[in-house]
Amino acid sequence: MKGLLLIPTLCFIALIANSQTSPEVLSTPPMGWISWNLFEGNINEKLVKEIADALVSTGMKEAGYEYLILDDLWHGGRDENGNVYPDREKFPSGMKALADYVHSKGLKFGIYTDIAEYTCAGMPGSFGYEEQDARTYAEWGVDYIKCDYCHAPQDLWTAIDRYTKFIKAIREVKPDMVFAICEWGQRAPWLWGKEVGGNLWRTTWDMRDTWEHHKYDSGHNGIMEGLDRQVGLERFAGPGHWNDPDMLVIGLHGKGKSASNDGAAGCTVTEYEAQMGLWCLLAAPLLVTCDIRNMDEDTKRILTNTELLQVNQDKLGKQAGRIWKEGVSEIWAKELSDGSFAVGFLNRDDEKSREISLDIKMLGFEKPVLARNLWKHKDLGVFSGTIKLEVASHECKVLRISEDDN
Ligand code: GLA
Repeated sequence: MKGLLLIPTLCFIALIANSQTSPEVLSTPPMGWISWNLFEGNINEKLVKEIADALVSTGMKEAGYEYLILDDLWHGGRDENGNVYPDREKFPSGMKALADYVHSKGLKFGIYTDIAEYTCAGMPGSFGYEEQDARTYAEWGVDYIKCDYCHAPQDLWTAIDRYTKFIKAIREVKPDMVFAICEWGQRAPWLWGKEVGGNLWRTTWDMRDTWEHHKYDSGHNGIMEGLDRQVGLERFAGPGHWNDPDMLVIGLHGKGKSASNDGAAGCTVTEYEAQMGLWCLLAAPLLVTCDIRNMDEDTKRILTNTELLQVNQDKLGKQAGRIWKEGVSEIWAKELSDGSFAVGFLNRDDEKSREISLDIKMLGFEKPVLARNLWKHKDLGVFSGTIKLEVASHECKVLRISEDDN
């Protein structure tokens, strides 16, 4: 029955949704920093400027992290003309001045709103003010909007209708503004997000700072629960429109607020590496949430691994699929624009290391291949038949596998 309804539903969406995504906006997944998981409401212009400076001084900007996004709780209210304004204590110089500062560092500026009357944290949302807010954001110089779904009606049609209207208003004033839909995957936005003009859409509830929550709901979503929800979604991602399994928890070490909900006490370095490797394979948005002003060496090394970032940013824009699974062992593969593959060997076992073997024919290779370990930056040699790796508990080894020309 569900399948029967899908085709008419998609035709209807295509008819009513008149703002299509353009592959030029966000031709590769967005990379940047977002304020929510660690700072929540403790945001102000001093912090934003320091984060902008840190993006540059730590080499994060050079590695590709270009968006600086203010999540919920930046708002002050609406004035008598309905214009939204920022909290004047937190942002005394105003948003335009802040966006100018961020731009002066060669970065882009993002902001958060909601498709209903209120945001998730109870601030003014954009419902009824779509055109006005679009104009305000454009005047401020906003490059990226994250638009949440709290307080909105639960049905699919309202979601499609409201996002279509808001994105149209935004594109009319600033055609290249990125629009991130955030309805947590509840109404399968991968089926309609592109048609309504979205550039990315959340596929999950909020990511928590833990390997596995063994439970999946609005308060529980570990790295493994988030990963499982990406299976089968690979066909919906591509240049200009991405599945978003939510923020990177790398480097939080249990210090986040909502990210540490219900026992999510942080991850080991191996687990943070696994999130990075998997999110790069998934062509996921890479939105860092830790305090990049004080990163430890491991956090910086994980976030700025250029060989992995190249996998994430590959211009073919393919999202990895899970090509093999046996118990707790999995293989994820992403095709790259030069004909090679990035392959993740994941061991979900809580204690033991495991040997995981890949038959290279599964990737379509008939001749011997070259394999390179992207975490170690090391060529592993030529392989024909199978590649066998010892993978530690909660580790994800990532190889780049290409045809051997010799
Ligand atoms: C929701 C979103 C989060 C964050 C908060 C802000 O939970 O999913 O990513 O934006 O709202 O209140």
